Amino acid sequence: MGNIGTGLYKILQMNREKVENLLGRNVEIRKVLVRNLNKNRKIDIGKELLTTKVEDIIDDPEIDIVVELIGGINPAVDYIKRSIEKGKHVVTANKAVIATYGKELRNLADEKGVQLKYEASVAGGIPIIDTLINSLSSNDVEEIIGIINGTTNYILTQMSHSNISFENALKKAQEKGYAEADPTSDVEGYDAAFKLTILSAVAFGETISPDDISREGITKVCQEDIKYASKLDYNVKLLASAKKYNNSLELHVHPALIPKKHPLASVDNEFNALFVRGNAVGELMFYGKGAGSLPTGSAVLADIITIGKTNKMEQISDKVITNNDLKINGQGIG
Ligand code: HSE
Repeated sequence: MGNIGTGLYKILQMNREKVENLLGRNVEIRKVLVRNLNKNRKIDIGKELLTTKVEDIIDDPEIDIVVELIGGINPAVDYIKRSIEKGKHVVTANKAVIATYGKELRNLADEKGVQLKYEASVAGGIPIIDTLINSLSSNDVEEIIGIINGTTNYILTQMSHSNISFENALKKAQEKGYAEADPTSDVEGYDAAFKLTILSAVAFGETISPDDISREGITKVCQEDIKYASKLDYNVKLLASAKKYNNSLELHVHPALIPKKHPLASVDNEFNALFVRGNAVGELMFYGKGAGSLPTGSAVLADIITIGKTNKMEQISDKVITNNDLKINGQGIG
């Protein structure tokens, strides 16, 4: 029941009828793992749903989908693995886990015949993962350039528009719930590097360790840089880019000068944007909220719905081909 978990809960309340119509069944929140049962929470979801024991979730055979929104690598990766091993589908927003263990977890999920989905791990509410995996599967993706960290984009925007210091802008970003618990990950570019690793894996089929990505954050960007850049008609943005050169890939995270008339220059505050170039579709641009409770919760719920729909289809196709059905219909195949 952190920032994203609360968002997910609210969206499910808001759109429950639509979701359940899509799935043709009820969606029930069975258990919520928390550290402290007695903490005052922003919303009351009923104490009987809360547990401090992960086994209450992983070992419950009636739970089909485990949603991991803890953040950080440990213990999240262990919980995800154990859930998959128990035959549960997993939805996560955890970029650190997917960037570091994504390949291993995807293989494990394939082996167990369950789905592992992580749309919310990159660019919050922007549906970029599913787009790269499915909608752009007909293309050879050649390049991705993005503003994929809401906190640093918010900080740079505030420093530029409100003339405030880096420290004060960071404080505001934390108050708004954009920044990670430890903002080093945001401001030093690690968060963007994790996301770039995930994008590269789904777009190019190559898992590049975040440690191998050339990376520079925004802690050295000062008011003077932003003012001089503006005088020369540029905005400063933290860019993450992945580009294919023949058989190699070049990945970078770094602050960059963007001409003010370029569409990326006007992506402000917590908003994210991604340019994708495919060899058939050409250039595409995606824009939206890259952080925050409801936008990120929206991506998590979409993954849950996708899993529910796929399983609904599997149930229907299982039914169509059962021997009983063939006997009842009095027809055989071949
Ligand atoms: N701290 C992240 C950001 C949250 O600011 O983009 C969303 O991944």
